[in-house]
Amino acid sequence: MMRIGTLYGIGVGPGDPELITLKAARILQQVSVVFAASSTKNSYSLARDIASVHLRKGIPVKLLEFPMTKQKEILDIAWHKNAGLVLDALKTGKDVAFITLGDPMTYSTFGYIMQTIQETDPDVPIKVIPGITSYQAAAASAGQVLAEGEESFTVISGAMGAKGLKEIIDHTDSVVILKVYRHFDEIMDTLEHLRLKERAVLISRCGLDDEEILSGSHYDTGFHPPYLSLLILHKRNCSHPPGRQ
Ligand SMILES: C[S@@+](CC[C@H](N)C(=O)[O-])C[C@H]1O[C@@H](n2cnc3c(N)ncnc32)[C@H](O)[C@@H]1O
Repeated sequence: MMRIGTLYGIGVGPGDPELITLKAARILQQVSVVFAASSTKNSYSLARDIASVHLRKGIPVKLLEFPMTKQKEILDIAWHKNAGLVLDALKTGKDVAFITLGDPMTYSTFGYIMQTIQETDPDVPIKVIPGITSYQAAAASAGQVLAEGEESFTVISGAMGAKGLKEIIDHTDSVVILKVYRHFDEIMDTLEHLRLKERAVLISRCGLDDEEILSGSHYDTGFHPPYLSLLILHKRNCSHPPGRQ
């Protein structure tokens, strides 16, 4: 029987190519094909750029288009089509990597690909290599402690705006909000209402040349952070000035 290759879901970290594990770098040298997600709008993949220094010369890097939509039917079609392309490569016996920004198990397209492949062919061997998440790198850049002692911290998506935000903040010591860009004003209004705006730190494009760190007092209504932005809010003040590494 034909050997099925192994699918590696590999986290490449949020931006700095040095923030990738030794294991991820080793496996990237061994696989035969690399897949990465790209938007249907621009055929660009930041994960590919980050991983590029770790790839073998000449290795095929295939971009899979994922539409930026919430429409389930459109997404279903894209997930099945893309999972099919990855499966085709695996069925030739090749080991394949699917690289993702940050960590593959945290708000990543890899989760959909993995589940679709498992449903289609449960025999495909799948291994996941964790990556440093955007919020871990951002906390380090901003010198912002996420949790200490008995404190709790909660990671949420800002894609639904400030819906439920007050209740979450009430029940935790610190909150990380990913995907904060689209409903930024609404989220900041809620933080202002809770008298916590000054405590919030926005980290944009962490680990990239144009990384920016802004504290809550530095933005006004109408400010539009880039897509690669997240907010860290610790209810008690526990930051120290960031130092560059
Ligand atoms: C689809 S999620 C990907 C999360 C990623 N898998 C992780 O482990 O961090 C995209 C969101 O992650 C955050 N993000 C990813 N990379 C980032 C970076 N370099 N700087 C700031 N935020 C980033 C932003 O909130 C962005 O909207």
